[in-house]
Amino acid sequence: MTAHPLGLSATAAAGPLTQPLEPFGGTAPRTAAGAAVRVEYNDRVVRQFALMTVVWGIVGMLVGVIIAAQLLFPALNFDIPWLTYSRLRPLHTNAVIFAFGGSAIFATSYYIVQRTCHARLFGGALAEFTFWGWQLVILLAAVSLPLGYTAGKEYAELEWPIDILIAVVWVAYGVVFMGTLAKRQVEHIYVANWFFAAFIITVAVLHIVNSAALPVTLTKSYSAYSGVVDAMVQWWYGHNAVGFFLTAAFLGMMYYFVPKQAGRPIYSYRLSIVHFWSLISIYMWAGPHHLHYTTLPDWVQSIGMAFSLMLLAPSWGGMINGIMTLSGAWHKLRTDPILKFLIVSLSFYGMSTFEGPMMSIKTVNALSHYTDWTIGHVHSGALGWVAMVSVGSLYILVPRLYGQTQMWSTRLIDWHFWTTTIGIVLYVASMWIAGVMQGLMWRATNADGTLTYTFIEALNATYPYYAVRLVGGTLVLGGMFLMAYNVAKTLGQGRATPAFAPAAATH
Ligand code: HEM
Ligand code: HEM
Repeated sequence: MTAHPLGLSATAAAGPLTQPLEPFGGTAPRTAAGAAVRVEYNDRVVRQFALMTVVWGIVGMLVGVIIAAQLLFPALNFDIPWLTYSRLRPLHTNAVIFAFGGSAIFATSYYIVQRTCHARLFGGALAEFTFWGWQLVILLAAVSLPLGYTAGKEYAELEWPIDILIAVVWVAYGVVFMGTLAKRQVEHIYVANWFFAAFIITVAVLHIVNSAALPVTLTKSYSAYSGVVDAMVQWWYGHNAVGFFLTAAFLGMMYYFVPKQAGRPIYSYRLSIVHFWSLISIYMWAGPHHLHYTTLPDWVQSIGMAFSLMLLAPSWGGMINGIMTLSGAWHKLRTDPILKFLIVSLSFYGMSTFEGPMMSIKTVNALSHYTDWTIGHVHSGALGWVAMVSVGSLYILVPRLYGQTQMWSTRLIDWHFWTTTIGIVLYVASMWIAGVMQGLMWRATNADGTLTYTFIEALNATYPYYAVRLVGGTLVLGGMFLMAYNVAKTLGQGRATPAFAPAAATH
């Protein structure tokens, strides 16, 4: 017997490279009398993470809107230390990446690994521990960052006791995920799980190596590395946090939910395997592009640039694989706002992974570095790709978790799609223009070699673009409130229903 890994119908699954899925011989659970046992999925923890994704999305983006407003009106910190830009900025990045993005990843990876392995999550209470442990990390971050406690490393600001907690929760996550893979009832490991597994292993290594520090008090530590080695380790971490936290895990989401929602098998299964191995092996070496023109040896910078340029190929391979999955189902885009979320997210993924390699070219980076162009690039990836693919996936996930076939209102999803898309375009385009303008103004010189513009002149010229970014960000945040309302209504009309592995897994 063969079935499609995502349970798509035989006709829908008739793609050229559809992978067969065989029952994994003889391992299905049985009672002492030999009768097959129904495998019930552990969806409680999926529900918990899914709901917290919406909550943390709103919190993180709200802080984003506040700091966007502060750049326009600096007085908005009201001279209160914990409301200053310097403290709220890391709160924003931690909240959107680790709280919002992290919760979305936990929810979807736990859902997907169970469905594609026909197995209940391994480890029982350990999965519950990852939920509460991760929420505790987020709360500690939300308190310690505004209080000004920071290790001073971007995306790794949290102090050492919280770092230890993160490591413990992460290892537990790894045990739950890999344990589920190990007890799977099907032979094949669907490609989404490869991406999640690589992400879990890599983030553990990155976090533990980069956080190595000498504690002096409970709230203060010094990095184990010094000087340029410290910078190199930090950006090896920082860039791979982008590559694995903000990319690989969301590709796992993409590989499951795009075919599901399109009702088509993934365009090319072979391409997805090439995509996986090339992406994970190239990402590791690209970090030095964050340190161009620094005291890092020149040859290391050039290696970073070369690997960044190579990274274009696997990134676009993945994007094309996702978008082409819609072949023969393009008409669905007209009526299905969830598919719109997923396909537009892939378009932003394509854009930011074209832009990134270009920005890694040293001469281009000489213009873009320190400017808002980088911020435009970040949000085309983080909002356009990461947030949109998460939101699209949640719209598929939430109704299923509560015994419904679809969200309470499709119209509201459409409204969310348009507010978000317009908001992101306003955000990203304004930062691109502001960034290139800043770069050009800073380097302009007069005939006698003096600077044409003072820094303040460049800043003044940027204000209109900060205003446009604020409008864009507010639209995106508004969309998240629409989502929260729609989710609350869906919960109201449904109830948490148990889900079981298909009967095929029990004989
Ligand atoms: C309503 C939506 C959002 C708004 C208004 C917003 C706003 C901002 C602002 C004003 C900054 C500081 C820029 C600067 O220092 O010049 C920033 C930085 C950042 N944001 Fe957002 N943001 C939003 C959503 C997100 C999301 C969803 C993510 C990730 C999933 C994200 C990731 C980041 C990162 C990584 C940085 C640091 C960039 C760097 O250091 O180069 N943001 N954001
Ligand atoms: C092929 C893929 C990519 C390459 C080669 C790449 C390259 C780059 C380069 C050259 C920079 C500027 C470094 C600097 O001047 O300081 C940068 C910054 C950044 N990129 Fe990308 N990028 C890629 C994809 C992405 C994606 C998909 C995301 C988000 C989901 C992302 C998030 C970021 C962030 C957060 C920063 C700012 C880091 C910081 O300074 O705080 N990148 N990237």
